[in-house]
Amino acid sequence: MSSLSDTVLSVIYKRKSVRSFKNGRKEIPKETLEAIIKTAFAAPSAMNLQPWHFIVITNHSILNTLGDALPYAKMLYKASAAVIVCADTKVSEFAWELDCSAASQNILLSVEAFGLGAVWTALYPHEERALFVKNLFHLPENITPLNVIPIGYPDGTEQPKDKYIAQKVHVNAWQSV
Ligand SMILES: Cc1cc2nc3c(=O)[nH]c(=O)nc-3n(C[C@H](O)[C@H](O)[C@H](O)COP(=O)(O)O)c2cc1C
Repeated sequence: MSSLSDTVLSVIYKRKSVRSFKNGRKEIPKETLEAIIKTAFAAPSAMNLQPWHFIVITNHSILNTLGDALPYAKMLYKASAAVIVCADTKVSEFAWELDCSAASQNILLSVEAFGLGAVWTALYPHEERALFVKNLFHLPENITPLNVIPIGYPDGTEQPKDKYIAQKVHVNAWQSV
């Protein structure tokens, strides 16, 4: 295997949901955040419609407001930044969740590649959570937020999980597990 494929595979396998960030909310360099967001745009999308938009949050007060409102995103209180992945549902009515999920995964992987940590926290399909974010940012009717991805400096608590189960791979025919 080439060193490039080694590196790519290593990032994929090292990625984990990071919910424990170091204290102090050290700033993430602007260039790093930009590089992370750019990888989201490299994701595949149905008919190449690219329905995504990204709200990048570095303001601690906004991060805290989101932490107050979102029940499973309390790590926002220690995050240095967050990205809200949104969809223009007029651009892709039928596949925006899928397209924006692919973009979200690229963000999670590139965060890992930069030695940072992140976790997907759900807005969609929880209407009340999505509505809170829509109102907070005065989002237009056609813009739906999918998730909030807090990003920070991992304190090392979380480790990647080995989730491979050979019996879930079915070659040429369905084999019952
Ligand atoms: C659609 C989706 C919604 C999720 N929602 C949350 C969430 O609201 N809060 C959270 O802490 N983690 C959330 N997660 C992260 C999962 O809990 C995590 O990916 C899973 O436990 C596997 O762990 P790993 O990411 O470390 O491999 C979500 C992940 C996905 C894909």
